[in-house]
Parts: sequence; structure tokens; C-alpha cells
Amino acid sequence: MYKKFDAKIDALLAKMSLHDKIGQLNQPCTPLPHQVEQFKEWIRKGEIGSILMAVGATAGNDPQGAIDVDFYNELQRIAVEESPAGIPMIFGRDVIHGHRTVFPIPLAMAASFDFDLVEQSYVDVAREAANETVHWTFTPMLDLSRDPRWGRIIEGPGEDPLVGACMAKAVVKGCQGEDVSHKDRMVACAKHYIGYGAAEGGRDYHRTEISNYSLYNYYLPAFRAAAEAGVGTYMSSFNEINGQPVTSSKFYLTDVLRGQLGFEGFVVSDYGCVEQLIKQGVTDDRGEASSMAIEAGLDMDMYDFCYIENLEEQVKNGRIPESVIDTAVRRVLRLKMAKGLFEDPYCKPEKFDRNVHLAHAREMAANSMVLLKNDGVLPLKKDMNIGLIGPFINERRSLLGSWTVDGKAEETPTLLEAMTEAVEGKGKIHANVGISLDKDFTFRMADRGDVVVLALGESWARTGENKAVSDITITEDQKSLFKKVKATGKKMVGVFFCGRPIAMEGIAEYFDAILYAWHSGSETTHAVCDVLFGDVVPSGRLPVTMPRLATHIPLYYNVTPSGRPCNCYYGENPGNCYVDSYPTPYYPFGYGLSYTKFVYNDIINCANPEVSLADLEAGKTFKLSIEVANAGDYDAKELVQLYIHDPVAKMMRPMRELKAFEKTFIKKGETALVEFELGYKDLGYYTAEGDYTVEPGKIEVFIGENCLTERMTEIVIK
Ligand code: NOJ
Repeated sequence: MYKKFDAKIDALLAKMSLHDKIGQLNQPCTPLPHQVEQFKEWIRKGEIGSILMAVGATAGNDPQGAIDVDFYNELQRIAVEESPAGIPMIFGRDVIHGHRTVFPIPLAMAASFDFDLVEQSYVDVAREAANETVHWTFTPMLDLSRDPRWGRIIEGPGEDPLVGACMAKAVVKGCQGEDVSHKDRMVACAKHYIGYGAAEGGRDYHRTEISNYSLYNYYLPAFRAAAEAGVGTYMSSFNEINGQPVTSSKFYLTDVLRGQLGFEGFVVSDYGCVEQLIKQGVTDDRGEASSMAIEAGLDMDMYDFCYIENLEEQVKNGRIPESVIDTAVRRVLRLKMAKGLFEDPYCKPEKFDRNVHLAHAREMAANSMVLLKNDGVLPLKKDMNIGLIGPFINERRSLLGSWTVDGKAEETPTLLEAMTEAVEGKGKIHANVGISLDKDFTFRMADRGDVVVLALGESWARTGENKAVSDITITEDQKSLFKKVKATGKKMVGVFFCGRPIAMEGIAEYFDAILYAWHSGSETTHAVCDVLFGDVVPSGRLPVTMPRLATHIPLYYNVTPSGRPCNCYYGENPGNCYVDSYPTPYYPFGYGLSYTKFVYNDIINCANPEVSLADLEAGKTFKLSIEVANAGDYDAKELVQLYIHDPVAKMMRPMRELKAFEKTFIKKGETALVEFELGYKDLGYYTAEGDYTVEPGKIEVFIGENCLTERMTEIVIK
């Protein structure tokens, strides 16, 4: 893929000193004002290859200044005109789910199951950020997670490998486009490679235990898809796996990533990961840590100056050969060339109309929201009297979600503002925050409505990096608030603004309808109005299981059978699991409602549901289809989901695995024929050695509205 740059890189490398080369592997943070002169000096000496455009370790939580384009252009000028090798720097920033226009948190975008829309979103995101000097973004975050206590679950695709793979492709394509050198494009970064989302107990940065079987079948597919989509970079993760820090693991960083996934770009460490090897206890020396990391395959050192301060000495004393450095530098230079930085290193901002991006953000947000419950109260009518209660009615910042570095809370309309605008000239909003104000007044406002909308949720500050929670619920005062409102006897609609799934037992029962609105970005509240008033029919589906209680975690749908009767905690027979509670999900993976009614017919199996393994391998497929009728009153989109189960295989296979889905628009009164094809790549699994295998035998195929569907047929691989 990068072959065309080889000759130019050879020529460059031949001219560079060892010091110049190592400088290319050094990525410090943006300097604070008092560090600027020193920083410029480093650039002049060729000691900086890239800048992490952030101040502080967790850019998603700490306030960051706006990007000063002139400042970065000046730093770039010094690199190009005054450094020994004249190589431009590559500037990277955490543009995770939006720049000035903020899109929904990635977990919410995954809930849309509309990956064309996700790709479109990242085209906008890239355009805005690239227009302010960002060459490289540290997204997509592809960490599969089964633990909503983990604060960073908001940044990822949820619990399913296929959804992760779809997210990977969409984000990489959206950011990088066909030609990443285009001024509106950014290099993407698949992170955190790998296993970071499996942190024990959801405690950020902590240890993980991941067998190779789980690695290949659950944690790796999204990263494999990123490589296939041509992602330019990977970020190695903070965590250890089975006692081995990823930072110093040749197995993960080279054998798997380069050998098996065929990745050719470069790997950047996560923040301070090289030095962290000392804390992790695999060395007590920064020089040795640097050698271990670069030997393992970690090309660029983020933040801690370990490489620049130690690698020269490590080469000179014979600990590592210079060829190891050359390999890493070659990878970095390739990407800089691919990004077009040698031709055009400077940013020349252009003016453009951001309203188009806001309209896309609104569409993305409305498509991400999940209707969890509706006893006939939604959609609301615009001429109603609506009691609008709760701590989120005036909230702005939390709507943007964590990892929002450049979005502006003050530009984000509150729910009260958006609803007032939506009903203008027709209905009336009776609003009260309800918490910390006069509760009786809340009661009166609720009582005046024909219906009450309760705006509840969690603060953005409870989510994101290093923000794990031990209980995934909403605060006690919010619970007492909705219980009090319930006493009015009015119909209650809960709109939940959350970053993660919450434990719904003791909450959902109180509501007549629940819209899960997530932290959906700049246009959250307009999108909520679109859905509440029926201008958009909800079509989001859960990309993660929503448990009854936090104590049931981990609870995920693609689990293997236990072999004993206490097996069926995800589906039937749950009473045989815990003696003190019902462990079934409150809402399962893939779940979500619509305003219309979809009726599924039986699965239409292929004319010949038997295919030989050889034919399958040669490209033959099983073709299955299903008729879905829209028998309700609204034109709407339905997510038709296909799962498989291999009941007899050498390795135990999950009871359900999502293998395909189709988001289909069906007009009211019409029926759609939804067709699927299952081929070789869908019907096998990876062994612990990383070999893909498809075994002969029967496969159960389920098609339906969520992972608990029992609508089944069988196909046979002979
Ligand atoms: C640490 C985070 O883990 C990573 O996701 C982020 O990209 C870097 N810091 C840079 O801010």
C-alpha cells in the first residue's frame, strides 16, 4: 500500500542522523505558554516528529484551549525550514465524536446500526478538524466491552464484534476517505489495541485476562476490520493481558497486528505507556523500557520522552540494532507522505457552512436514540400541555458527552429550549428542574401537563477516561423525583441522557414510555423533540445489554452455553441462575421499539440449505430471506437482525452471534422482503492459534427483532 514511497524514504533515511530518526518517534503534548521557546528549540533540533494537541493526560476530561492554527503553522515552519532533516510534523488530536459540531457518543452511533450515517458523520468531523490543523485523530475506539461500569464504554461500539467491525470501517472511511492526503481528511487511529475494554471490574487501566480464543473471536475482529479498511495508525493500550503489558508485547504488536492483520502503518503508544512499563514491573529502567517497546513494534512514543532520551544510547551500547529504529521511522514517514505533509505541510483554514453538519448531527442523533418502552403515550402531540421536569431540562454540557474537546456547551440547546420551540404556537411547556428547587412546585408543574416528560440521566463527568462507577444507575434524588411525579397519576415519559446502559430494575416500571437519548451531541435536544413528537420514528437498537442490576455484570448476549441447567441466564430459565434475583437482561442486545408495528413472517430458507464445505470456501453462499410487514400507522425503519448458533463444533460457540443485519425502511401497509447471504467468512471461527476454521455440520439461523428471537431455521455445511 505504501510501496510508492519507498525510494523517497530510503533517500531520506540515508541523510538522517540517528538522532534525527529518533526525533521522528517522539510525540510530546502541546506546550504550555512557558514551555513554548524550549519546545521550538526541540523542533529546531529535529527532536519532535508529532504533537499531541492536548494539555494533560485525559484530554476528554480536562479543559483544552481552542486550536490556534497560526501557532501550529509556525511550529510546522520551524520543523520544515529549520530542523536538520526538514521533515514536517504530524499533528494529532482526540477528535473522538465531533469537533465543533459534536455527534453522539460512539456507543450511541453504534445504536443507530446505520453505518452509512456514521461514515457521513465522520466526513463532517474530519472536515471541521482538518480545517484547524488536525492531521490525525485518535479514533475509532474499538474496545469491545461487557462492563458498563467502565467509563470508556461510551467511546466504543459495545459488546458485539460485528458491530465493532462495522464501526471500524465506517469511521476509518469517513475520516480518511479514498485519499487521506486531501485537505479535508484525517488519518484515523484504531485504539486501544488491545483488550483495554476488558479491564477487570470495569476499573480503568486495570489488568485483563484474555485467552487467545477470545482475542481472535471477540476482541480482534473490529481491529481486523480497521486494518482491512486501511487505517493509518493503531494506538497500543495501557493494559496488560495475562501478565504481559501490551506495550512490550511482540506477540500483540507485531505477530498479530502485522503478521496476521497485515497492518503497514505505524503504532503510537497511549499516553506515557513506555515509561509505564516500569510501574507495571517488567523493567526498572527507562532505557530498557524504550528498547522493549520499540522491539515489540511500538513505533511512536506519546508524551513521556522515553524514546528521545534513551534510544540513541540503547543503539550505541548494542542493546538494539539501528535497523529497529529505521523500521519504525520508515512507518512514520510513510504516513506523513500518505497524508501529503511533504507537499503541503501548512493549514489554510477555509470558511464553510456548518449548518449542514448540524443537520447531519441531528439526523445521526435521532437515529441513535432507542425507544425502550411505550405503552401508547408516544408520540406526543405538539398541542399538548406538557409538564417538563428533571435535572436535564436545562443541561447543556452533558448532552455533548465525554471526549468533547472542541464542542461548545453554550451552543447546545437545552431540552426546555428545544421543546418550547417545537410546540410554539400550539402547546405549552410547564417546566421545573425538580431537584434542589421547590419539590411541591415540581408537583404542580407535573400536574398541569396532560403528560409529564422527565429528563433524567447521568453527567458527562461520570463517563469517559478514568471514570468508572461501581453502580450503573441514576442518582437517588432523581429516583425520588420520578416517584413523586408518579403520584400525580399522569402518564410519564422518561428521556434518559446517559453515556452507558443503566440498571433498569426499579426504574423502568414507573414509566409509560422511555426514550434512551444517550449523550447525543450538539443536536441532542432537537433530535429528542423529533422523536418525541413523531417527526422521526425511533429506530435505534441496543448495542449493549441493559441489565436489571449492576451485580449481574458481566451480562452479554454472545455467551457460550454452560452445559448445566443454570446456563440460561440470558434467556429462558433464569430462575436457575441466582437464588436472589432474576438475571435476565432488562433489555437485551439488539432491542428497541418503533411507533409502528412490524410483523415478521417465517424465515424463507434457501432452495438448497445444504452446501459442501468446499463450495462454501469457493464462494457459494446460503441465501435466506424474510418478509417483514409494517402493520402499524407509521412509515418506519426496522432493524432486521440475523444471528447464528453452531450447536456442535470442536470449540464451544456462542448461543447467538450477530452475523448480519439490514436496516430497512418500510412504508405503512407494505411488506419488505429482506434478504441475507451467509458465506464462508460468516460461518466459522478462529482457533486459539488464530486460524480461521469452518466446520461441517448444522448451523441454526435466527432472524428477528433482537438477540432473543426464536424464529429459527437450519442450514447444513456438508
Ligand atoms: C489517553 C487515552 O487513553 C487515549 O484514548 C487518548 O487518545 C490519549 N490519552 C491522548 O489524549
